[in-house]
Amino acid sequence: PEAITVQELANRMAEKGADLVKAMFKMGMAVTVNQTIDQDTAELLVTDFGHNVRRVSDADVELELDTTEDNEADLKPRAPVVTIMGHVDHGKTSLLDALRGTSVTSGEAGGITQHIGAYQVTLKDKSQITFLDTPGHEAFSDMRARGANVTDIVVLVVAADDGLMPQTIEAINHTKAAGVPMIVAINKCDKPEANPQKVRERLLEHEVIVEEMSGDVQDVEVSALKKTGLDDLLDKIQLQAELLELKANPDRAAEGTVVEAKLDKGRGPVATILVNRGTLKVGDIFVVGAESGKVRAMIDDKGKQVKKAGPSTPVEVLGLSGVPMAGDQLQVVDTETKAREIAEYRQGVMQQKRTTQAPASLESMFSALK
Ligand code: GTP
Ligand code: MG
Repeated sequence: PEAITVQELANRMAEKGADLVKAMFKMGMAVTVNQTIDQDTAELLVTDFGHNVRRVSDADVELELDTTEDNEADLKPRAPVVTIMGHVDHGKTSLLDALRGTSVTSGEAGGITQHIGAYQVTLKDKSQITFLDTPGHEAFSDMRARGANVTDIVVLVVAADDGLMPQTIEAINHTKAAGVPMIVAINKCDKPEANPQKVRERLLEHEVIVEEMSGDVQDVEVSALKKTGLDDLLDKIQLQAELLELKANPDRAAEGTVVEAKLDKGRGPVATILVNRGTLKVGDIFVVGAESGKVRAMIDDKGKQVKKAGPSTPVEVLGLSGVPMAGDQLQVVDTETKAREIAEYRQGVMQQKRTTQAPASLESMFSALK
């Protein structure tokens, strides 16, 4: 049996604690705002104040989401998701620009990446690689941490003139913690002061032993500026990806991860979703973190409208109720009611976490009292 204090219940109904005490006094119960009341009494009060009672437990919510494992037979090969990490200004975005044959850096404010960009590169053999660009700036350490969680392979960019720096080491630690294979791209090798050998030696101190030093971490010398070593890097990514035998079931309700989200002036809330499994389609109803929605439109990394997006594909999704957080999971559900219910439940939990220090069991008692 769950319990809640009078004050907590008042908070959730957006009523005054004293008014609840008064109402209970009329019902013949003398309590203070800090006293706990049982669920039946709480429900009585909620109804008395003209709100609807809805019991939502964690179990109910879990049951509503189809998180079942896929059958081996339904799995199809998917593109690797590669996150580019490294210290600020070591050339992550430039390297990605060079690989894509485009220029993102020139459009960035002060040349500093503010968010995680997601792009797909199609190779000569028609196979694809999904790249996530991350910012190197200190303030974005949690973003890099999330990047490491959705990724199959990390490309660690180290500038050969600057060597190992704090965010390089941080990226190494995130990658190790996530258990993700790493490829080291030693960048800016065109510079006269470049010293790739010193980078390799310094990496040893962090237990990253590259092939050149008889280890098993692949390394490659590149120059994003002069566009050298790029094919070598792509080959190494493909080789690593083949070893991982990456697969996903494209024929199921889609699941994805928010890599970035924002409120766009003209288009409303927009989220870049990396599809993990299933195929996301226009018209799909979904819950994403504490938000819900219906896919109104999808835009790929080249700015083209698309009708569907399969595993490992990054797409911008329009039609959200609000802005989710980077790292939130998106799940497609059958009905809008269900999507709203789950989102409201999660909003309730978040609200509860912010306003009180109540134990978890209380959080699951009521949600979205109206
Ligand atoms: P943040 O996103 O701010 O962490 O930086 P970043 O790692 O994305 O670096 P970015 O690609 O913005 O490059 C930083 C600077 O290094 C720019 O001035 C680039 O022109 C320069 N740069 C990048 N790659 C190379 C290279 O291979 N050689 C030389 N010489 N300069 C490079
Ligand atoms: Mg950048």
